[in-house]
Amino acid sequence: MKITVVGTGYVGLVTGVCLASIGHEVICVDINSRKIELLKRGKSPIYESGLEEMLREHRNNISFTTDPVEAYSDAQIIMVGVGTPERADGSCDLTYVYSVADDIVEYSQGNPVIVIKSTVPIGTCQKFKKYINSRMEKDRQLSVVSNPEFLSQGTAIKDTLHASRIVIGSDDGDAIRTVREVYEPFGIPIIETDFQSSEMIKYASNNYLALRISYINEIANLCEEVGADITDVACGMGYDKRIGSMFLKAGIGYGGSCFPKDTKALYWLSENQGAALKTIRATIDVNTEQKFIILKKAAKYYDSLKGLTVAVLGLSFKPGTDDVREAPSLRIIPALIETGAKVKAWDPIAVSNFSKLFPDVVTYCRTIEETIDGADICFILTEWQDVINFDISEYASRMKKPIVIDGRNCYAIGEVKGKGIVYESIGRQAVK
Ligand code: UGA
Repeated sequence: MKITVVGTGYVGLVTGVCLASIGHEVICVDINSRKIELLKRGKSPIYESGLEEMLREHRNNISFTTDPVEAYSDAQIIMVGVGTPERADGSCDLTYVYSVADDIVEYSQGNPVIVIKSTVPIGTCQKFKKYINSRMEKDRQLSVVSNPEFLSQGTAIKDTLHASRIVIGSDDGDAIRTVREVYEPFGIPIIETDFQSSEMIKYASNNYLALRISYINEIANLCEEVGADITDVACGMGYDKRIGSMFLKAGIGYGGSCFPKDTKALYWLSENQGAALKTIRATIDVNTEQKFIILKKAAKYYDSLKGLTVAVLGLSFKPGTDDVREAPSLRIIPALIETGAKVKAWDPIAVSNFSKLFPDVVTYCRTIEETIDGADICFILTEWQDVINFDISEYASRMKKPIVIDGRNCYAIGEVKGKGIVYESIGRQAVK
């Protein structure tokens, strides 16, 4: 099928490449000409493992453009994967989605099915359909389908090719069948439903995962008080099939471009409906506080970090990505600078993104060794494999004071004992 994918962020680009890989003829359109130029040269504007290789492998089935005429005039399906950022009040900004609607009205021909992949508040697809068709000629009324995306950054291709489910919601049976045909080669379970339920499945899934993280983080904080170990607790809970073991990793909270935005958007929507979700309010509040928990731990060892050298390992919101959006580093590093600490930071791939926001106030290092050399304290913010594999005894030999505050529980307590370091982590007893 001829498929136009609008937006070349994580959702659009990965979807486009994966659809090209099963033989569809895909054209990706973006208003950002820099991104399109890179893609035309086979380079990915985002860091995602395996994406460039797939781009090259399926280049005969995928093309890139900024030209709306080229993008829309021949499409059988138009998939919308543009950003839906957060407004200052926490609600969802749909400006980009509606600007795509205007382009479709102006440039599309025939009767393409419009598929909304962007995460949009419940009720949006129905309104979008009305909006677009009120601007089309009476004899050309377009169908709209809600088809939320469940991929995670860092594993996006695997998540798309081997997704747990594909959700298709619409008020139009023919459009549902067309979109079903697009995905059938993947051999993944397909759930058909209405617009609102489809939109809700996306929000409810992300919010539930965020809730699990805040829940386990609160349990972790309590574990420290009562002498329990969160790693063992989560392991013991996870064996129960009703609970499962995933998303029970305690740490300094969730970040990224999805959970923070989607929890706030769903809470905003629920409050607006007069049915405020108390669990989600708690999820957000717990996460906000959890980011700073490592600074509280540092206060056990230093009255103030003023003038001290602080090593920070990891800047991205999780390993496997260079994305720093809503990463704990964005809150913790400014707080450190504010107190007058000298910050040295390392990340294998996110320095470029982070240093655009903080160009001068942080010393960026090339290696973990260089970062911890002479440091008075070290904070681990992302569980990069390089950190997990790092020889723990190096902290003792290189740091001025070997105090390691691990916000991601990178090391087993047994590994750390006897290595001559003070080690604080999340939900586990300190090693001194
Ligand atoms: C998330 C969802 O997992 C995807 O299913 C969804 O499609 C995507 O949002 C989206 O809406 O686009 P993503 O934000 O890429 O994906 O990353 P996750 O792997 O879910 O991690 C989110 C945050 O939670 C990270 O900061 C991670 O460190 C944290 N986390 C995750 C924990 O603190 N503990 C865990 O056990 C798991």
